Amino acid sequence: MLNDFEIRTATIDDLAGIFHLGEKVFTSQAYSNLYRTWDEYEVTHLFNSECEYVLVAVSEGKVVGFAMGTVIEKARSAWNYGHLLWLGVDPDFARHRIGSMLFDRFREIMQETGVRMLMIDTQLDNKPAMRFFKRKGFENPIKHVYMTLNLQKET
Ligand SMILES: CC(C)(COP(=O)(O)OP(=O)(O)OC[C@H]1O[C@@H](n2cnc3c(N)ncnc32)[C@H](O)[C@@H]1OP(=O)(O)O)[C@@H](O)C(=O)NCCC(=O)NCCS
Repeated sequence: MLNDFEIRTATIDDLAGIFHLGEKVFTSQAYSNLYRTWDEYEVTHLFNSECEYVLVAVSEGKVVGFAMGTVIEKARSAWNYGHLLWLGVDPDFARHRIGSMLFDRFREIMQETGVRMLMIDTQLDNKPAMRFFKRKGFENPIKHVYMTLNLQKET
């Protein structure tokens, strides 16, 4: 049951909550070919480098969702790109528009920063995320091939 929740930028006290929620959401079974693996370093690195782009949804003192991203500036280009790297909502609180509000705040911050294009990446078979991002106006999905090379295998 979800009572009220607030969306705000994260403080250092939220980091453990973000990390443990990420462990619950970004499991290796569900994201077997996610090339970006979830670990403590993702959280601490993004918080250290771009804490203004680390957002949390908090309900009764508990982190129930988060959004973390970065801004990419390209040399010799007037365009700045915002990359939403991680968006996660506690499955116990799914479909309460927490993801939606986190994304909307992230988008606002990106616009205030001068970002002109937002990017996300997710697995094609991640139907909730695909539907979510399409609802948010993302378009032009580009299929991306992910391959692995087992260096332990004899050739
Ligand atoms: C994707 C995710 C962030 C959505 O969070 P949420 O708070 O449950 O989403 P919202 O309640 O804001 O839903 C907004 C819309 O997204 C779509 N959506 C969300 N969850 C969905 C689901 N399980 N199945 C289908 N559509 C879904 C719907 O269109 C929904 O609108 P509706 O409820 O009016 O139909 C959440 O499911 C999640 O954390 N998934 C695992 C992590 C992940 O894949 N992150 C994205 C890539 S980094």
